[in-house]
Amino acid sequence: MVNLGEIFPNFTAPTSQGEITFHDWLEDKWGILFSHPADYTPVCTTELGTVAKLVPEFTKRNVKLIALSIDDVDSHNGWIKDIQADSQLTGEFPFPIISDNRDLAVKFGMLDPDERDKAGLPLTARCVFIVGPDKKLKLSLLYPATTGRNFDEILRVVDSLQLTATKKVATPANWQQGGDCMVIPSVKQEDIPKLFPKGVTMKPVPSGKSYLRYTPQPE
Ligand code: BEZ
Repeated sequence: MVNLGEIFPNFTAPTSQGEITFHDWLEDKWGILFSHPADYTPVCTTELGTVAKLVPEFTKRNVKLIALSIDDVDSHNGWIKDIQADSQLTGEFPFPIISDNRDLAVKFGMLDPDERDKAGLPLTARCVFIVGPDKKLKLSLLYPATTGRNFDEILRVVDSLQLTATKKVATPANWQQGGDCMVIPSVKQEDIPKLFPKGVTMKPVPSGKSYLRYTPQPE
């Protein structure tokens, strides 16, 4: 298991685009590693097609994508043709799929004990690891095999992670790019004019405490 803020461990693995060493592959970009229960499964097929269509949005945000599934590279390459046909995609598939032999799934706590393959072994759950340019884990999500992920939400959290990495704000529930943000609790009231030239609005609450501090999204 990797905790938030820890360096995501380096590894070398075969993929549908050749062998990669994770830290070298990341370069100085953000990275999203997301796992799948198995090749040739229905929900995964829709997920990979959806992500492939969103690649331009991730690239705009300096984010590289890499999927993982416990099947061999030949299986991945055959499955990619189905994914492309299902999502009406042509050309080279835009990101690699790691061929895991269970080592990474075990190491990173990706297994779903409720879903098993034909041999009775647990399948990989739907994990998402977002790694920053400093190679540290910034966010992880873990969905069971039976629930497909919302990749618009993954884009939204990338926007929040990238904003909050450099500005002293946090993003409220259901925030979207361009929406109002909240001043983080560690910011002292006297530092607000210097840090937030667009202004801060305090929302009164029955407790009388001054912690609901809204500010327009900083540039
Ligand atoms: C799927 O990708 O459709 C799937 C895989 C394993 C269990 C349930 C669904």
